[in-house]
Amino acid sequence: MSNEKPHATGTVASGDTSKRVGMETLRERGIDPIELREKLIDAIGAEFTTYYYYTNLRMHLAGNEDYKEITEDARLEDRAHFELVVPRVYELGGQLPNDIREFADRASCPDAALPEDPAPENVLTELLEAERCAIRTWSEVCDMTEGIDRRTYDMAQRILQEEIEHEAWFIELLSMERDGNVNPAGHFIRGEPGDAPLSTNRRFNESA
Ligand SMILES: [Fe+2]
Ligand SMILES: [Fe+2]
Repeated sequence: MSNEKPHATGTVASGDTSKRVGMETLRERGIDPIELREKLIDAIGAEFTTYYYYTNLRMHLAGNEDYKEITEDARLEDRAHFELVVPRVYELGGQLPNDIREFADRASCPDAALPEDPAPENVLTELLEAERCAIRTWSEVCDMTEGIDRRTYDMAQRILQEEIEHEAWFIELLSMERDGNVNPAGHFIRGEPGDAPLSTNRRFNESA
């Protein structure tokens, strides 16, 4: 008679901490959890480096307080995106690269570096293209996980919604700054800077 307890699931024996049902169920449904996990590390590498680069871009929008404020929301929301997905890397048996240089190098989007000519229209173009890269990345994660890995999908689709908002913000600002065109994003401001209404992790010590 088997010692295995009735709640042992699939290929993971009762009490076996070397395997994860949360990964095996993905394999059974056709996703390689390791491939997904490594893609998530690349994606949050881009969120983390973009958060860093946006800090510098925002500083160089001095004198355009409306641009600064909107860039600040996008900047802080990238940090929220990083933090939302970090636990998923560990749940999928991975970890962050120990070397931050390796982490930055594998980011799935180019560095959002300050343009040589940091005129507002050039900074806004940099911001816009960074958002577009993020939309492509999180759309790919949604495609990989939809209907299979509900947890990753839920995270990715919430981030994707905010990235789509960010693109619209910078289209509005760049259209006016560069072309004098009204091209509304349908947006005003977040309630709090970097509110991340869909992607923020629950705050520690938050009262109910
Ligand atoms: Fe982001
Ligand atoms: Fe963004």
